[in-house]
Amino acid sequence: MLRHILLATALVFGAVPVSAQSFSTLSGHAPLVIAHRGASAYLPEHTLGAYELAIRMGADIVEPDVQLTADGALVAMHDTDLTRTTDVASIFAPRNDAYNVSDFTLAEIKTLTVTPTGPASTDHLGFTPGSRDAFKVPTLREVLDFVTAHNAASGDAIGVYPESKTPNRSELSRKIVDALNAAGFTTADQSTYLQSFSHAGAEEMARYQNTLGMDLPVAALGAAVGDKGAFGVRDYTTDRTSSLEALAQFAGGVGVSLDSPSLTEDFIESAHAHGLEVHGWTFRPKSIAEARARFAPYFAMGMDAVFTDYPDLAVQVRTEFAESIR
Ligand code: G3P
Ligand code: CA
Repeated sequence: MLRHILLATALVFGAVPVSAQSFSTLSGHAPLVIAHRGASAYLPEHTLGAYELAIRMGADIVEPDVQLTADGALVAMHDTDLTRTTDVASIFAPRNDAYNVSDFTLAEIKTLTVTPTGPASTDHLGFTPGSRDAFKVPTLREVLDFVTAHNAASGDAIGVYPESKTPNRSELSRKIVDALNAAGFTTADQSTYLQSFSHAGAEEMARYQNTLGMDLPVAALGAAVGDKGAFGVRDYTTDRTSSLEALAQFAGGVGVSLDSPSLTEDFIESAHAHGLEVHGWTFRPKSIAEARARFAPYFAMGMDAVFTDYPDLAVQVRTEFAESIR
């Protein structure tokens, strides 16, 4: 591991070390690049356009957060409220003093346009989305069908990483699992994961999918806490800590904040010893230099996957890192 850290440091400062060694990930394969809300630094988040650009940039997985509409449809959306990412306020009056997804039907939400946030804009140089509805709110099924069609046409094996955004609501979690099952995302070899900030919700998803014959890995989200020998993940929804041993009973990985107090090489080694992958969120480097400084040390520590708004930069640093350990 120390060798990888030295290599990562060399990478940041431009040296090109040589010699063969595999990655320190649990699988020994290259760390996966997860497009966080799509290529959301460049295009409106959680849209088919942003997912398509992410795949074009080399992402392995696209991440739809999932909300439930008033009429029970699953839509890709981070917030419970529609105002930050859509033009809802210019089209509809508020309901219950707000614009909650749960108060609008799918047909109503389909009239909205997703607007760029943060550094994103409405177009990206050299990219023309293939979808007619590139910047509408997609249903989860539309996201899954889009990825399936891409994989069939290209031979790629892009995965998906849906998150239940009402983590303690069984109805939403089960509908997400049902949607994956119906779309054929069912097995652990598809770079596809389920995730939840609620560890009880994550366990419920894991157990439910097993009853359907599925074996997707589930990631329990939170903060890496503790120290060597007693690491765990803090569940923000309960403010309780789950030990890695307890999580390993049902989870395939942990998704941890980069601000975690204990996100160290020892944490990653301990998670791996329990059979758990470690996925870090959220990488938002503003330049390739910053990307090298941010990603490379975690690649050296054996982080298994990175959530990032900038999949192009993650892919570039991963390529450089792979070259550096050949
Ligand atoms: O799900 C992992 C990462 O996406 C967590 O953050 O708030 O963007 O869903 P959030
Ligand atoms: Ca998420």
